[in-house]
Amino acid sequence: MCQWSSSCYCSMAIGTFFIKNMLELKFKYMKVAIIGAGNMGGAIARGMAQGSLIRPVDITVSNPSEGKLRAIKEFNPQIKTTCNNQEAINEADLIILAVKPWFIKEVIEGLTLQTEKQIIASVAAGIPFAEYEQWIGEKATIFRIIPNTAISQMQSMTLLASHNASKEQEALLANIFNEMGVAMLIDEKQMGAATALTSCGIAYVLKYIQAAMQAGVEMGIYPKDAARMVAQSVKGAAELILTNESHPSVEIDKVTTPGGLTIKGINELEHGGFTSAIINAMKASLK
Ligand SMILES: NC(=O)c1ccc[n+]([C@@H]2O[C@H](COP(=O)([O-])OP(=O)(O)OC[C@H]3O[C@@H](n4cnc5c(N)ncnc54)[C@H](OP(=O)(O)O)[C@@H]3O)[C@@H](O)[C@H]2O)c1
Repeated sequence: MCQWSSSCYCSMAIGTFFIKNMLELKFKYMKVAIIGAGNMGGAIARGMAQGSLIRPVDITVSNPSEGKLRAIKEFNPQIKTTCNNQEAINEADLIILAVKPWFIKEVIEGLTLQTEKQIIASVAAGIPFAEYEQWIGEKATIFRIIPNTAISQMQSMTLLASHNASKEQEALLANIFNEMGVAMLIDEKQMGAATALTSCGIAYVLKYIQAAMQAGVEMGIYPKDAARMVAQSVKGAAELILTNESHPSVEIDKVTTPGGLTIKGINELEHGGFTSAIINAMKASLK
């Protein structure tokens, strides 16, 4: 039986350190093009420029209108901007398509891609790899990326699915988006359901915040104070689940004293169809 000696551990640690540094070195000089400077494209450009993996000078953003590009330049003058998509991608190793889904085909068809060496990633919701294959080619390395709007706060839950990618390329993309929150690599067949939970789901959480604030205001709390109280409570609840890795029932049990006020409120939620409404909303987002 193999006995791990301290020298084994030492060489393993050196190996891991070496691979991590090799990957970081590779990232450092990687050039990224982002097509579309809207909510998603703009947030990815800003987030990436604040991260440690890609140099701002290696990021080029293209957009037809100049206003959004000016805003990106004001954020970080080192980021390159252009109104010409082809110019943006010529030198790129990674191309991120961040236009509305109905423009994706047209944008791809307007580009001369070097699919043998460029990675193509798309944030467009609802377009399967099968369609990209038809537009880009069967052998291309393609990623589907679904961040949520918290990416602007570097707190996104980002979903990644890969097609024809190596483990190294998957690690590369995951590391880039891990710097803007948490990235999770999933199978393409889970993409629809996972998008409902995260990209649409963030709006349902906001809806809860809005409703709780409304209650707070009726009970005499100023909207601004109510917003702070509820938002911090939601953040705290999320931290409990993420840190303790516990089930929500376990955390709920801790605040529901038998005969107490919280269980009365929880039962009211259930009488009002809360769980059922959330399940229906998530499933409706899948359609
Ligand atoms: N928002 C979300 O929560 C979310 C989450 C996950 C994924 N997504 C996906 O992200 C993508 C972008 O959504 P968004 O919310 O960022 O939309 P958006 O704010 O409307 O941004 C799209 C940008 O694309 C630009 N554009 C249009 N045609 C173009 C072209 N031919 N070449 C280059 N740029 C072009 C638009 O420029 P002009 O406005 O100047 O015309 C606009 O700045 C969508 O496919 C969506 O499915 C969004």
